[in-house]
Amino acid sequence: MKKIALLASGSGSNVENIICYFRNKSEISFFVLSNKEDAYVHQRAKKLNILSYTINKNGFETGKALMLLKENKTDFIVLAGFLLKVPEDILKNYQGRIINIHPALLPKYGGKGMYGSHVHEAVVANKETESGITIHHVNENYDEGQIIFQSRCVISPADTPEDVAAKVHALEYEHFPKIIEQIIERKN
Ligand code: GAR
Repeated sequence: MKKIALLASGSGSNVENIICYFRNKSEISFFVLSNKEDAYVHQRAKKLNILSYTINKNGFETGKALMLLKENKTDFIVLAGFLLKVPEDILKNYQGRIINIHPALLPKYGGKGMYGSHVHEAVVANKETESGITIHHVNENYDEGQIIFQSRCVISPADTPEDVAAKVHALEYEHFPKIIEQIIERKN
């Protein structure tokens, strides 16, 4: 049995999609950890009967999050819309076992402040003709860890940031659970 921590700061639609994908695969279990008490991801977790915890930014910086991960015997960490920088103690303890999804084709549109709708607004402002998703290992710098997987979508001139977000989310829902599955199998 592998235990996966799903870290999220907001809505958690990817968290929900991942949990549903693995629903009938008994070898994997999940819990949710958010840095925001009022994040909608908690409601999704509740609906799906999955434990969810909140540890604020300060708790991440002072070792509380690592303690919780260890208490829960976490094998693997998945960032799914998690907006804090992962602190060094967690990086050290989970080397090679933390992945993130980014809603653009890194190295473009990555780095501090580039998350969620900000990314899609920049993509539209720059009249990009494509965008997509990047799944990557997590290191000490935002969005700079080794890339595991990318998938692209076409952006038309009429697309709004909301249209781009919808295209990107569709790619995330299609690919993220499968990539998680592959990586976990490789780590067995
Ligand atoms: C997702 O699009 C994810 O790629 C992005 O936040 C969104 C969360 O949506 N992550 C980042 O921007 C990280 N830099 P969700 O809460 O509905 O899953």
